[in-house]
Amino acid sequence: MENSRGSFGSKLGVILATAGSAVGLGNIWRFPYMTGQNGGAAFILIYLVCIFMLGIPGMVAEFIIGRHSAANAARSYKNLSNGKPWGVIGYMGVFTSMIILGFYAVVAGWCLQYLYASIMAEVQGDANFVKEYFASFSSDAVRPTLWTIAFILLTHVVVVKGVRNGIERASKILMPLLFVLLVVLVVASCSLQGAWKGVEFLLKPDFSKVDPNVMIEALGQAFFSLSLGTACLCTYASYFSRQTNLLKTATQIAFLDTLIAILAGLMIFPAAFSVGVQPDSGPSLIFITLPNVFNEAFASMPVVGYVISVLFYALLVLAALTSTISMHEIGTAFFYEEMHISRRGGAWIETVACCVIGVFCALSCGAVPELTFFGKSFLNCCDNFTAQWLMPMASFFTCIFVGWYIPKKVVHDEFTNWSTLRGTFFGVYLFMVRFVCPLCILIIFLHQLGVL
Ligand code: PFF
Repeated sequence: MENSRGSFGSKLGVILATAGSAVGLGNIWRFPYMTGQNGGAAFILIYLVCIFMLGIPGMVAEFIIGRHSAANAARSYKNLSNGKPWGVIGYMGVFTSMIILGFYAVVAGWCLQYLYASIMAEVQGDANFVKEYFASFSSDAVRPTLWTIAFILLTHVVVVKGVRNGIERASKILMPLLFVLLVVLVVASCSLQGAWKGVEFLLKPDFSKVDPNVMIEALGQAFFSLSLGTACLCTYASYFSRQTNLLKTATQIAFLDTLIAILAGLMIFPAAFSVGVQPDSGPSLIFITLPNVFNEAFASMPVVGYVISVLFYALLVLAALTSTISMHEIGTAFFYEEMHISRRGGAWIETVACCVIGVFCALSCGAVPELTFFGKSFLNCCDNFTAQWLMPMASFFTCIFVGWYIPKKVVHDEFTNWSTLRGTFFGVYLFMVRFVCPLCILIIFLHQLGVL
C-alpha cells in the first residue's frame, strides 16, 4: 500500500472498508422509508433487479478504473482519458459525496441522539409519545445541528488520525453483532400483535403501485446503498490488490448489503403496522417505529429491551461512521492529491463544506421552515437530488467510459484474474456495461423527465 495514499493495513482491510461503506444508514434508515413510500413489495422487486442488473456491473466498472489507476477518483478517470474530459466524472463524485455527507450526518446525528436517549431511557411511552419525541427533537434548532457537526468532526478525526484501520477491524467483529441484533429485532417485531400485515406489505407485490417514479426511487436506492456513482468505490478500489476478484467482491458486497436492507424492512414494517405508524412516514420512519419495538416487544423484560436498544443504536452509529469515512475520504484524497494541499488541509476543506451543508439540512427539518422547496425539506432535496440524479448519471457515464472508451484490454485484464472464474463472464459483463446498464439508466431518466 502506498503509505502516502492512506492507511489501510491489509488487503482484507480494504475489502472490509468497502463493505463498511456500503452498509450503513442507506440500508437501515433509507431502505425502509423508501419501501414504505413506494408501496412495499413491488418496490423491493424492482430494487433487486436494479442491484443485480445495474448495481453489480456498475460497481465492477468503478473497481476497474480505481484499481487500474491506483489514484484518487479524478486522477483515476483522467489517467485513462487520453486528454478527454472524462475526469469530470471524478470531480462529480467529489461534489456528490460532499452533499451526501452533509445530509447523511444529520441522520447519523439523530442516531447519536437516540443512542443518548436510550442510555437515559428517555423514549419510554406509547406510539404517540414516540412520535412526538421525534417531532420535537428534529424540529429543535440546536440539538440536531450540534449532533450533525459532532458526527462530521468525528469522521474528520478518524480520517486524519489514520485510526480508520482500527475502526474497520473493530467493525469486523461488531458488524456481525449488528446482524445478529437485526435478526433478534426482526423476531421481536414480528411477534407484535397485527405484525403480519407488515410482513404482507413487504412480501406481496402490488404492481398497480408501480409508476416511473417508483422505478427511479428504486434505482436511486440501489445506487445509494451500494455507494455507487460517487467515485467512492473507485477510490477504495485504488487500494485493492491485483489478486482481488472484482466481480466476486462486488457480488458479495451487493448480497450482504441487500440482505441487511431486507432484514431492516422486516424489523420496521411489522412493528409499524402493529402500532399504527404510517409506512409512508418518510425519513422519520425508523425513529418513530423502533422505540416501539424496544418498549412493546420487551415489555415483560425491560432490562433486555434496554440493553438491546443501547447496543443497537451504538452499532448503527458505527455502521454510519464506516460509511461517512468513505465519503470523507473521497474529498480528502482529491484535495490532497489534486490540489496539492496537505492531507490535513484537504480534510478540513471537506469537513467545513459538509458542516455547512449539514447545518442547512438539520435546520430544514422543522426549525427553519423556509428551507423547504417544492414541499420537501432541504435534507430531502439533497437526498433525492444525489440518489436520483447525480449517482445514476455518474454511473451511466462510467459504464460508457468502461464499455466503449478505455482499451478493451485494460477492462479484460482487470476483470480476469487469478480466481477460478478467470474470464468466464467477461463477454456477459462487457455486454451489460456497454448496452444494458446505460440503456436502462437512460430509459428511467427519460421517464422521469416525462419524455418517454
Ligand atoms: N452506501 C451507504 C449506505 O448505504 O449507508 C451510503 C453512501 C456511502 C453513499 C458512501 C455514498 C457514498 F459514497
